[in-house]
Amino acid sequence: MQTGRHLWFIGFMGAGKTHWAARAADVLGRPHLDLDAVLEARMGRTIAEAFSTLGEDAFRALEIEELRRIAALAEPHVVSTGGGTPELPGAWAVMEAAGRAIWLDVAWPDLVVRLSSERDQRPLLSGADWEARARALWLRRRPVYARALEVWREPSEAQIQALALRLQSTR
Ligand code: S3P
Repeated sequence: MQTGRHLWFIGFMGAGKTHWAARAADVLGRPHLDLDAVLEARMGRTIAEAFSTLGEDAFRALEIEELRRIAALAEPHVVSTGGGTPELPGAWAVMEAAGRAIWLDVAWPDLVVRLSSERDQRPLLSGADWEARARALWLRRRPVYARALEVWREPSEAQIQALALRLQSTR
């Protein structure tokens, strides 16, 4: 595994990308960046507000712009992306050229439980039929996420330690 590059944590909403990227960053001694948080700071509003005021297309344009900016940072970061980031046109090439992706692949029944309590911050999960729409999105995105070279199905502290060891051994 190359060490001098970013680690991108990817996966569907509710997969735990922010949590596990922050943990990996801690253990690896690298800075963590959360793409959603970077975007909220830049827009001066929450993602839910951005979707309703600017619209999703404007949000996506900023998302790919910020992804490119982060990819160009010389210092290796651990980055938690948004659930939709990897399917943005051009995003995969940017991520691949600047680092390695780790896919947090959570089974659908577990995701539904998590998402049902976190829907208010996620504009794509609003409305009565949110579960069916989210499942269709999840199915559509899985082949995109599956391009990651590494898949974590049950993220754990042990997995973080193993990642750190692997990175050290190839340093
Ligand atoms: C989105 C996921 C969200 C956020 C936005 C759109 C998506 O990030 O970027 O609401 O398209 O899946 P999380 O995956 O961190 O919830």
